[in-house]
Amino acid sequence: MPISKIKEEPSFGVFHFFAEIIFAMDLIFASHNDHKCREIRALLPDAHVSSLKDLNFTDEIPETGTTLEANAAIKAQRIYDEFGKAVFADDTGLIVPSLNNEPGVYSARYAGENANAESNMAKLLANLEQQADRSAYFETVICFINAKGEQHFFRGRVDGEILMHKHGEEGFGYDPIFKPKEGNRSFAQMSSIEKNRISHRGRALAAFIQFLQSTEKN
Ligand code: IMP
Repeated sequence: MPISKIKEEPSFGVFHFFAEIIFAMDLIFASHNDHKCREIRALLPDAHVSSLKDLNFTDEIPETGTTLEANAAIKAQRIYDEFGKAVFADDTGLIVPSLNNEPGVYSARYAGENANAESNMAKLLANLEQQADRSAYFETVICFINAKGEQHFFRGRVDGEILMHKHGEEGFGYDPIFKPKEGNRSFAQMSSIEKNRISHRGRALAAFIQFLQSTEKN
């Protein structure tokens, strides 16, 4: 199995890494989300990451779990069962403690079944109008299933706050209203590379790559 090398750059003062691919990896990323696929490829520039689109897999995979772990596992397992190859899937939630940890595992459908990023953000901003505490964090769980069918989980989290208004055009989902503690810009005001140096998904992916380094080399 190919190897990635992770380095930390303490000079940034924040957790920061970049993955340097030593050998090419062959992995399926079990997601239909083009933004996420771009982010993952930006972090693994030399790996062979196949998306579901590349594999012509168009079925929606129902996320019926009540935890991030369960949903990540459902997605990865479905694709492993279909293709029998090493695959990883992620599931992410935005957690707002002052709103009883909403939207959490239901982040994609916060504003209802036909929700989109705009309606989800509008609902969150409305619900926070009377709240003094706007702290929030994103959490990602990655489920990796290796070629032998064994599941492994990796977690990443970034703390920050929900802004009063949207800022920036980059990214997706709640990015325009989430400002990480690191810096003064929303995620939507950062490039994909900048965002993922500190993001929930970047951190979960760093843990995943470290695992591949230590266990999958042969
Ligand atoms: P998913 O289940 O991992 O696709 O994530 C659930 C929802 O969380 C998505 O539909 C987005 O609304 C939101 N989300 C996930 N990752 C991010 C991110 O990196 N930035 C902003 N919103 C995100």
